[in-house]
Amino acid sequence: MLKTCIFGIDFKNPVFLAAGVMGETGSALKRMAKNGAGALCTKSVGIERREGHHNPTVVEVNGGFLNAMGLPNPGVREYIGELERVKDDLKRIDTKLIGSIYGKDQKEFSEVAEIIEPYVELIELNISCPHAGGGYGAQIGQNPDLSYKVVSAVKDAVNIPVIAKLTPNVVDIKEIAKTVVEAGADGITAINTLGPGMVIDIETQKPILGNRFGGMSGPAIKPIAIKNVYDIYSVVDVPIIGVGGITTGYDVIEFMLAGAQAVQVGTGIYYRGYDIFNKICDEMKLFLKDKNLKLKDIIGGAHE
Ligand code: DHB
Repeated sequence: MLKTCIFGIDFKNPVFLAAGVMGETGSALKRMAKNGAGALCTKSVGIERREGHHNPTVVEVNGGFLNAMGLPNPGVREYIGELERVKDDLKRIDTKLIGSIYGKDQKEFSEVAEIIEPYVELIELNISCPHAGGGYGAQIGQNPDLSYKVVSAVKDAVNIPVIAKLTPNVVDIKEIAKTVVEAGADGITAINTLGPGMVIDIETQKPILGNRFGGMSGPAIKPIAIKNVYDIYSVVDVPIIGVGGITTGYDVIEFMLAGAQAVQVGTGIYYRGYDIFNKICDEMKLFLKDKNLKLKDIIGGAHE
């Protein structure tokens, strides 16, 4: 009932693991696969190892979390060893892999993309981390020229579908969505974390996060994610993967009505546990059965 084909790839369901959560190791990825995810997005990896920001890197707030991990990762060459270890298991469980990558410019992005390509079905470009600094992340995704350069260079470098993950922290998400599609993006993931935001400890009288500020995720950002997906759907013709505050199957239905063909879940795992993927799929099936609808009937259904 939830099977779907996007980018010419068959997914057993459209509920995927978002980048940055449970993607550090092969065994963490395998655990998410066993809990029913239709696809898994890796931790964002770059060309070199990166230690990330100082602790604390995560703080809970009303309606979600602020995080500033600082893109910690072992570097793509070491990380592919993790993917190699679980490749066969993931095939057996029928869970697809999306390689999330970052870089400081189009050359670095392309290099990482070429190295990870044999291990994944799709590449997701993280051009939207709100606090990476040093020219990484949202500095690219907030700039149409830089976004165009990164997407087109990676498209030239690899032969698998490439999706751009966009930041909501822009004046007009439609403009950037059109730009990445013109550059050749096969799809768009929206949204990355909102903000950044800050929490100050009134005892120490200093910001709590080691990085001082971080990106907001969780249910509070869901209405913003829905509006972004709705807007993107109205201007481009490529598949959209919705992400931002999903905890239930009913949230997924809402994203699909806005125009998403698939979704990603991250922070929701904290609220409902690792088996959130199975729970969400069960809720979606109940809804569709009750209303006598098919997935393809509802995508974009909220538009005029
Ligand atoms: C990080 C990266 C992101 O893209 C994001 O939205 C939040 C945090 C990180 O690794 O710090």
